Parts: sequence; structure tokens; C-alpha cells
Amino acid sequence: MSSEPSKPVRIGLLGHGTVGAAFAELLAERADAVEAATGRRPEISGVLTRSQGDFGAILENSDLIVELMGGTDPARGFVLDAMRASRPVVTANKQLLAQHGDELFDVARAAGVQLRFEAAVAAVIPIVRTIQESFGVTEIAKVFGIVNGTTNFILSEMAATGAGYDEVLARAQELGYAEADPSDDVSGADAAAKMAILARLAFHTPVSLAEVSYQGIEAIQPDDLAYAKELGLSLKLLGVAERRNGGISVRVFPCFLYAGHPLAPIEGPFNAVMVEAPAITEVTMSGPGAGGLQTASAVLGDVVSILAGEAPVHETRTELPIVADVTSSFYLYLEVADQPGVLATVATVLGDHDISVKSVVQRGADDDARLVMVVHECLESRFAAAVVALGELDEMRAAPRSIHVIEEEF
Ligand SMILES: NC(=O)c1ccc[n+]([C@@H]2O[C@H](COP(=O)([O-])OP(=O)(O)OC[C@H]3O[C@@H](n4cnc5c(N)ncnc54)[C@H](OP(=O)(O)O)[C@@H]3O)[C@@H](O)[C@H]2O)c1
Repeated sequence: MSSEPSKPVRIGLLGHGTVGAAFAELLAERADAVEAATGRRPEISGVLTRSQGDFGAILENSDLIVELMGGTDPARGFVLDAMRASRPVVTANKQLLAQHGDELFDVARAAGVQLRFEAAVAAVIPIVRTIQESFGVTEIAKVFGIVNGTTNFILSEMAATGAGYDEVLARAQELGYAEADPSDDVSGADAAAKMAILARLAFHTPVSLAEVSYQGIEAIQPDDLAYAKELGLSLKLLGVAERRNGGISVRVFPCFLYAGHPLAPIEGPFNAVMVEAPAITEVTMSGPGAGGLQTASAVLGDVVSILAGEAPVHETRTELPIVADVTSSFYLYLEVADQPGVLATVATVLGDHDISVKSVVQRGADDDARLVMVVHECLESRFAAAVVALGELDEMRAAPRSIHVIEEEF
């Protein structure tokens, strides 16, 4: 008895760059495995780039669309058209999801098709799937982590070598870890887009990119890293999405971590994401956050999930307000006149703002002294006011510098 060959699943591929080309190659290589797992053999039915292919013709000849072009335009129109034409879509496009998430999920829901995007956040680390499926009904308290490999590479190198930001950025560009225009990565904007997506999934609430506050790594000085080492701290660019005071806070900022924190040992161009909830305690996943093959692998995983008929489209259920002013611990770097009583003056200003000091390192340099301290958790607005007051002291020799700290020691 001969069995009928299954009908192939025709995949329309939008974009054939780093990820698109790797996906086409991986799909050909793993076609047997995909067929064995899903009963359908995948084939590429058309490829769109700037110089080849026609979107309308590709859509007509496809059962599923994989969008790996990047950017919001024309990707947004293509993804919406595909879903309205009842084609499920897989995309790796974080900007598209972070800026147009509401519209995309509404159309996916109305059309009853799947929109999958595992590769849009931390590439191959299965954080989207984990939050949507494994923790789909868990009341997640916090999702946070290192979601940008470029900045993690730069900060790791600065800490290891003592070199300055510009020198290490140039090295990252030579090695292919940073783009020729690195602004999206180093400003924190790329991480902010990923955190908007994770916050939406974790808290079942609409979160747009505009609601994520972010700060980059451009102002970090080698001094900060050297002193922090003495305080037992290592520096990461963190994305944090958490429930706070009946709302949520979604932010990206450079942050010191104590040794022993699960994210402290993540070095180089790697990503790591932690999820916390009473029902799960905490889970940490780490791995490469970029790369053609690694990202393509996440895209292929989404294609297989769709073919296997798994998981409904993401649903937005509640509207949680964004809480702007939250508490944090901070590192504070002060250059002051090297004269008696300065430390007491600084302590008084901090005390006046209800801020208490956890640890201090003091060093003399010529006529000036450096006071480097970690202060206990306080409202960010109160800390900002204290920094302004410190900056106005006659004894201050340079503008104070501050960086967030996660005080929790594991
Ligand atoms: N690279 C990574 O490691 C990585 C990791 C995670 C997520 N992603 C995401 O994956 C997506 C693709 O990234 P990539 O690195 O593969 O980008 P890429 O190398 O720049 O490739 C983009 C592809 O899309 C095509 N394209 C762009 N604009 C187009 C337009 N207006 N019309 C037709 N074709 C167009 C390009 O065509 P031409 O060939 O004609 O220029 C190219 O083939 C992005 O959303 C990115 O954020 C990438």
C-alpha cells in the first residue's frame, strides 16, 4: 500500500539578508525533520528582496509568510495583508511588534491566524514561547534581563580591559558585534523594543514602545567599572518589566549587579532573560541573542509550531497603567574637594532626602577626592533630587554620576 505524499506547505519569504538567507538554507536542510514532525513538507514558494519578487504574487502562492525584512514599512503592510488573507505569519521584526503590536494582534485575532515572533526577542532563547505557553496563566511579577548582545559585549570588554567606550565600540564593530551605525543598540532603543514585547506578553496588557523609558551606555566611564569592581559589582544594560503599585514599569538602563546574581556572569555578545513569579520562583535562560543561523533557528521553530497547530494568537486582556516613579538602589560617583568634612556634607544631603548609604569607597587624587558609594533602595525621583542638590555643593568638582544597582544579593 503506498501512502499519498502530503501536500507541501508553501512558505513566502520576505527578506533574504543575514537571517532570511540562513532561514532558507536551514529550511532546506531540515525539511525532512519538519515533514516528520508535522506531516507537511516545507518549501519556499517565493522570495522578496529590493531587487526580486512581487509581494502580491508571493502571497497568492503561499500558505504561510515569513517576514525577515526588518523596518516597519513596508513590512507592516505586508504582514497585515498576509494575515487578512488568512496566512499565518512568522516574523523576527521587534520594531514592527513594539510599534504596531495592538494593530497586528487585533488583525491576527480577527482573521483567526497565528502571528509568531520568537526571534524578535533574544533570538534563539525561547522566551516568547515560554511566557506565552509555559507561563501563559502564571501571574508573572517581573521579566528582566540582558536583551542586547552588542552592549553586553561592550560593557564586558570595558570591564575586562579598562579601555574606554569609543575604543571598545570600534573593536565591537570590527568583530561584527556592532553595526556601522550602532545608535539603536547603544542608546537602549533596541532593548526597549524587546522589553515592550515582553511586557505585553507577561502582563497581558498593551505596551507600546513610547511607554518604555530607556537609557543607553554611551556615558559609562572606565572609572565607573573600576570602582564598581571594588564594590563587588558588574555592569549590564538591563531591560526590566515589572508589576509596581498596581501598574507596570518597563525600562532599560545600565545597572550594577552583585556577584552571585544569575545575570552577573553573562559576558560578551550573549543574552539572558529571567522570569519571576511566586508560582515559579525564578527561571533564567541564556544564549546567543543574535546571529543569522541562531535567529533562523527560532524562526523555523515558529514555523513548526504553526504547522503543528499549536497555540492560539496572543490575546490582550487588561489595561495596566505605566508607573513612572519606582524605587531603586543606586551607585553614585562624586568628585569632591579633598578637605575635611566633605563626606559628612554629602551624607547630610543624602540624609535630607531620606537616602541611606550601603557602602563607600574613598580615594584621593591630587587636590580632589573620589567618593564612590552604593545607596539603598529609594524612590528614583527622590534620588534625582539628591543628585541635583549634591551637584550644587561648593565642594563638588564635577557633575555627579549615577547608575542603577540591583541590591539583591543571591
Ligand atoms: N541579524 C540578526 O542577528 C537578527 C537577530 C534577531 C532579529 N533580527 C531581525 O531579523 C530581521 C532581518 O534582519 P537581517 O539582519 O537579516 O537584515 P538584512 O541582512 O538587512 O536583510 C534584510 C532583507 O530584507 C530585504 N528588504 C529590506 N527592505 C526591503 C524592502 N523595502 N523591499 C523588499 N525587500 C526588502 C533586503 O533586501 P536586499 O537584499 O535587496 O537589500 C534583505 O534581503 C530584522 O527584523 C531584524 O531585526 C535579526
